[in-house]
Amino acid sequence: MKKTLLPLALFSSLLLADGYEIYKNNCASCHIEMISKEEVLNNLDKMKAPPMVEVSNQIRSNIIIKDDDEDVHKHLFVLFVKDYIQNPELSKSMCHPGALERFDVMPSLKAKLTEQEAQEVATWLYERYEGVSFR
Ligand code: HEC
Repeated sequence: MKKTLLPLALFSSLLLADGYEIYKNNCASCHIEMISKEEVLNNLDKMKAPPMVEVSNQIRSNIIIKDDDEDVHKHLFVLFVKDYIQNPELSKSMCHPGALERFDVMPSLKAKLTEQEAQEVATWLYERYEGVSFR
């Protein structure tokens, strides 16, 4: 048992690190990683997009599943984010109407990210903010 558990744990932490690198290289210029609501209000004119902590919280709480299965919830979250970053559209956005009025629709990153990278950054977006709320 131990033999298989260790490499798996290593593998998933490597994946997480990769997701963070992908975030830093492709998303951080627009989406701040961590900020409080108060700081957002004080820096509204400098914000190019909703902060990542808000994006993650918003999608996490909007996706509601019937049987409360964490894996299914995560899977749907990742699917939504992957699709959104490749094919963003106003009609799909779960952002607050206020945020959508402020910001333009996100540009598609389809040409910049591979399928695997989109998967990794979406997984990072879920895991990074587990138990971290936007307040
Ligand atoms: C050029 C700026 C820019 C970059 C780079 C960018 N985004 Fe966005 N993103 C936005 C803006 C603006 C919005 C808000 C409007 C909207 O929903 O399209 C947004 C919204 C989102 C949403 C919200 C969807 C929703 O409905 O709640 C997700 C998810 C997202 N971005 C993920 C990412 C990820 C992941 C990356 C990097 C791989 C990234 N973005 C890179 C500008 C950007």
